[in-house]
Amino acid sequence: MIEIHNIHKSFDGKKVLDGVSGVFETGKTNLLLGASGTGKSVLLKCIVGLIKPDLGSVTFDGTYFTNNKLDIRQEIRRKIGMLFQGSALFDSMTVEENVEFPLRMLTEMNREERLDRVNFCLKRVGLENANKKMPSEISGGMMKRVGIARAIAPHCTYLFCDEPNSGLDPLTAIKIDALIAEITEEYDITTIIVTHDMNSVIEIGDKIMFLYQGQKLWEGSNDEIMDTDVKELNEFIFANRLMRDAKKVEDEGGHSDL
Ligand SMILES: Nc1ncnc2c1ncn2[C@@H]1O[C@H](COP(=O)(O)OP(=O)(O)OP(=O)(O)O)[C@@H](O)[C@H]1O
Ligand SMILES: [Mg+2]
Repeated sequence: MIEIHNIHKSFDGKKVLDGVSGVFETGKTNLLLGASGTGKSVLLKCIVGLIKPDLGSVTFDGTYFTNNKLDIRQEIRRKIGMLFQGSALFDSMTVEENVEFPLRMLTEMNREERLDRVNFCLKRVGLENANKKMPSEISGGMMKRVGIARAIAPHCTYLFCDEPNSGLDPLTAIKIDALIAEITEEYDITTIIVTHDMNSVIEIGDKIMFLYQGQKLWEGSNDEIMDTDVKELNEFIFANRLMRDAKKVEDEGGHSDL
């Protein structure tokens, strides 16, 4: 479980995060939802320690992270897997080398053990015959899968994904979401996913935190989100005509497959 308490962050006097608190649960897909520019990525970076909050704290399974001693922070960092926006694979390395990279950096495994783990992770994400391919030779969806394999390779306890399905077609996006949700449950990982995609909310939103102008305005599950009376969240959800139609059907007592 990851807990954040009263996180504040400003850049050049401009407030980006304004006292955000909350809990991200283990074995669940926790979504950070909000419009562009609301501070989702900044909050994620504060949680992983890439940005230092001006105020507030982050705790990983009861261990205080922010401002703690370097060795304790490093110990926690070793347990974090990160899927960056746009996958961020190393262009000059093969798929296999990309997934092997964190094992070389973070573990004492020998080459044979590393390759076993690489093959296991690539198989887990459904990429069995791509070891020797370069990132430029594979599709966007495959790149995301490699990114996920690389993130989970060192047995991560915490997984952070920034817009994991951006730039993908809707079907591939759903498959990537489902893969992250399956892996989260299977290995009991605490996963935080930054998204502005309502499809992800519907598919995998176990727990959702809605950010608006640097504040948490709502939290709940995907079962509850359609019935919210928070104006800003309603505007966000029902900006999409399909969502408005789905809500109309629901309100009229009909059945919606959404
Ligand atoms: N390193 C930085 N220096 C200055 N301003 C920054 C920095 N990082 C983010 N910001 C500002 O903080 C605000 C929130 O940015 P953030 O990247 O968190 O948005 P976001 O919610 O992730 O949006 P998107 O959905 O477009 O990715 C923006 O106004 C951005 O310009
Ligand atoms: Mg972002």
